[in-house]
Amino acid sequence: MRARIIGTGSCLPDKSATNEYLSTIVDTSDSWIQSRTGIRERHLVSSETETTLSMAASAARAALEDSGLLPEQIDLIIVATVSSDFITPSAACMVQKELGAMKAAAFDINAACSGFLFALHAADAYFQAGIYQTALIIGVETLSKIIDWTDRSTCVLFGDGAGAVVAKASQEGMIASLQGSDGTGGEILMCKNRANNNPYIATGTAPDYLYMDGQEVFKFAVKKVPACIQSLLAQAELPASEVKYYLLHQANYRIIASIARKLKLPLEKFPSNVDHCGNTSAASIPILLDEVHKAGKLSPGDLLLLSGFGAGLTWGAALLKW
Ligand code: ACO
Repeated sequence: MRARIIGTGSCLPDKSATNEYLSTIVDTSDSWIQSRTGIRERHLVSSETETTLSMAASAARAALEDSGLLPEQIDLIIVATVSSDFITPSAACMVQKELGAMKAAAFDINAACSGFLFALHAADAYFQAGIYQTALIIGVETLSKIIDWTDRSTCVLFGDGAGAVVAKASQEGMIASLQGSDGTGGEILMCKNRANNNPYIATGTAPDYLYMDGQEVFKFAVKKVPACIQSLLAQAELPASEVKYYLLHQANYRIIASIARKLKLPLEKFPSNVDHCGNTSAASIPILLDEVHKAGKLSPGDLLLLSGFGAGLTWGAALLKW
């Protein structure tokens, strides 16, 4: 049995920060941001009650409603995030409590922007092994809390949000998937956790913010994502044109356009929401999938190819039948 997505949901914070607004905080401009990234605005949490948990739970409720399943029918909850509210308990356990999905085993995955694909891959493996029959898979980030809001090279790129899917073990659904990592590239995109702190060593350093070497990430993405896509298409013995939509990690529109060019595919096959969401890391692919689904653009039997890349370095892709 393979993973079939039977429901989607998403949640974006109410507050939207435009490029014009950011240009009042740091030395930047709408034209610089739009021409380099395609981003016009991004949603940011703006109250104590908007948290990684609140967004994850809201997206999960929407996905459950769309699927027709009840929380108590869920066997497995996986949350992909690098910005959980707590180091422990996991965001997945907190979502479980919030929804009352008490039958489920729950845990988090940290694979940065590839996290949702790693989580989908894991759920599919559990289904193939016959261990579980239903899963709630969530990608959620409150990246705004690990961004340095005085650093114009990173603060304009990211947004907050959550996306979720409900998947069920089924005869049809996932066709092929892959995931990979290269820890030697970890330093081009990183954010340190707390420093050592015990009776022998107490560094007392300030919390760290996200660091990114943008050009290196760009080069990695435009090389790795087309390779992932071509590998899955070859595995499935399918021509690229058979896939209805390529739902890629929404980091930067120039990266998406470059991948479309490399694959010699029309841009219409690459829906994008980076203009109004910015880069929401692990949440970007499920938010986009929810938008495309709720816009009525998907029909049963459509082929979708999801692919992403992120810190670690990590990458992943999934070819599935809707
Ligand atoms: N506004 C105005 N100027 C800026 C800004 C800004 N927000 N940010 C940087 N600049 C300046 C720099 O200071 C530099 O100025 P200088 O020439 O005087 O030194 C100039 O613009 C060019 O800087 P670069 O970093 O070379 O800009 P580049 O054209 O490479 O664009 C960008 C930067 C958009 C980050 C690009 O490298 C990129 O798209 N990288 C991909 C990385 C990405 O998308 N990461 C997302 C997160 S990773 C993930 O999702 C896995």
